[in-house]
This record gives sequence, structure tokens and C-alpha cells, in this order.
Amino acid sequence: MGSPVTPALVINERWCRERAVAGEDETVIREDGGDLSGQVGLVTGASRGIGRAIALALAEAGLDLALAARGQAALDAVADEVRALGRRCVAVATDVGVPAEVDRLVARALAELGRLDVLVNNAGVDAHGTVEESAVEDWQRVLATNLTGPYLCSRAVLPAMRRQGGGAIVNISSGAGKTGYAGMAAYCASKFGLMGFAEALAAEVGDQGIKVSTICPGTTVTEFGGRPPARQAGVKVLLPEDVAAAVLYLLRQSPQAWTSEMTLWPFRELPA
Ligand SMILES: NC(=O)c1ccc[n+]([C@@H]2O[C@H](COP(=O)([O-])OP(=O)(O)OC[C@H]3O[C@@H](n4cnc5c(N)ncnc54)[C@H](OP(=O)(O)O)[C@@H]3O)[C@@H](O)[C@H]2O)c1
Repeated sequence: MGSPVTPALVINERWCRERAVAGEDETVIREDGGDLSGQVGLVTGASRGIGRAIALALAEAGLDLALAARGQAALDAVADEVRALGRRCVAVATDVGVPAEVDRLVARALAELGRLDVLVNNAGVDAHGTVEESAVEDWQRVLATNLTGPYLCSRAVLPAMRRQGGGAIVNISSGAGKTGYAGMAAYCASKFGLMGFAEALAAEVGDQGIKVSTICPGTTVTEFGGRPPARQAGVKVLLPEDVAAAVLYLLRQSPQAWTSEMTLWPFRELPA
């Protein structure tokens, strides 16, 4: 299946070619037109919700994929969907907060798929309760998955990306990574922390051709936090596919452009 090229990219490519023809700059020509086929991606939290939508969008765009989540059965089901799109896929049950499991995940991805061009740090959990009422175990569980997980996964893929001459790391944060909400201290702390982590990492690896970006989605229709995926009347929401489209937009940006942070707001109520 071909990869659709966004109008913005087409315009951008034409501008680059005109400059090149005029002899102004030959280095900015984008030869691939945003084509991602042949690349390999790793998506965490890929067994449902936003991660599943990202995995399927990347597969449709031509990437082979390594998928991670703790539960193997649901992960295998998404891997089957990816293979049905004609892509290679390895599904590795992984807790992203456990260093040895992350190292094993990345080793298997490289052994079976040969390279790693894209990491999407999407796995996430939440916990509710005031600071006083909350259990320290919940605080540690949320921080381990939402903050330590992206640190461990990024650290594990960087050597391969550097060897290959570049790559992209996309972190799925949240509106709760920019605004604090009562009863959500652990979640907000983890997502605010992810923003800082991403900014620091971007500064560390940008000159190695590795783009680090963060997407902050608003409320998205998934089973996050065990809630039913129902659309409530009067509430504006995003679909998982909206977040997946944002990831693809980032990956298809021209080599000379980098979006460090993208806030994705729900704009209208979806039809029931
Ligand atoms: N839904 C929203 O409204 C919303 C809004 C903004 C941001 N986000 C963020 O978007 C991301 C995805 O959320 P979602 O709505 O798609 O949630 P979801 O439907 O609950 O999916 C979460 C995914 O993460 C995996 N996961 C959880 N803990 C993990 C761990 N320790 N190690 C590896 N995988 C783990 C889950 O699989 P297992 O349970 O099998 O591990 C599942 O695949 C999260 O980072 C969330 O914070 C969501």
C-alpha cells in the first residue's frame, strides 16, 4: 500500500527542488517524498487504544514493527493485524519499566528486523486519588511506566539509531503534561517529567540526526484507566487514529524540519 504524501510535504519538496535547480542548495532535496517504507518502528503499549492505532498506521505507511505491552495475547492479535498489512512484526511481552525486559525487547527487534528507525514511547497508565490518599505503590507504578519506561526504551534504541545515522523518537505525553489536575498528581508528574526528559534528550541527540518529539493529546476514546470507551454526550474527544495521524505527520516532516512538541486538542463532539 502506498504512503499518501501530505500537501504540505509536496509544497515543501517543490520548494526544495526549485532551490536546488537554481543552484542555491542541493542538500535540502527530499528524495523520498515522505516515504517511510523499509523503515522499522518500535511501538510500546501497542496492544490496544492509541498504541494499536499507531502500530496500524505505521504498518500502512510501510514500516516493519516491533510491538510491546505486558499482555502477550492482545499484543499477538495486533501483530496479526500488522502482518495482514504485509509487514513483518515481532510482538514481545514487555514491562517498559523493567530494564532487563526492555533490553530483551530491543535485542529481539534488532535481531529479527535488522534495524530501528522509529521509537514511539506510548505505553502509559494512570492512578487517581489525592496526594494524601494515594498509595505510594500507585505513585511508583505510574512513574515506572510513564517516565522510566521512555527513558529505558530511548536509551536502548539510541546506539542502533546512531549507527544508522539517525532516527525518530516520539513520546506520547498528555494535556496532563502541561496542566496539573487535582486527583492526578502521579499521572501529571509522570507526564510533566516526560516533557522535560524529551527536551533534554532532543538537545543531546539532535546533532546525531535523531529527532525527539512529544505529542500531548487531549481526551481520546480508549479504555485508558479502565474506563469504558463510550463517547459521552457533550464531551469533545479525539479518536486513537487522530493521535496516530499526528505521529505520521512528525515522521514525514522534511529532514530540515523538526517539531519538538505538538498539542492535539479535541475540536468537536463525535457523532454517537
Ligand atoms: N486516552 C486518553 O484520553 C489519553 C489522553 C492523553 C494521553 N494519553 C496517553 O496515551 C498513551 C496510550 O493510552 P491509551 O488511551 O491508548 O491507553 P490504553 O488503552 O489503556 O492502552 C495502554 C497500553 O499500554 C500498555 N501498558 C501499560 N502499562 C505498561 C507497561 N508497564 N509496560 C508495557 N506496556 C504497558 C497496555 O498493555 P498491557 O496492559 O498489556 O501492558 C496497553 O497496550 C498513554 O501514555 C496515555 O497516558 C491517553
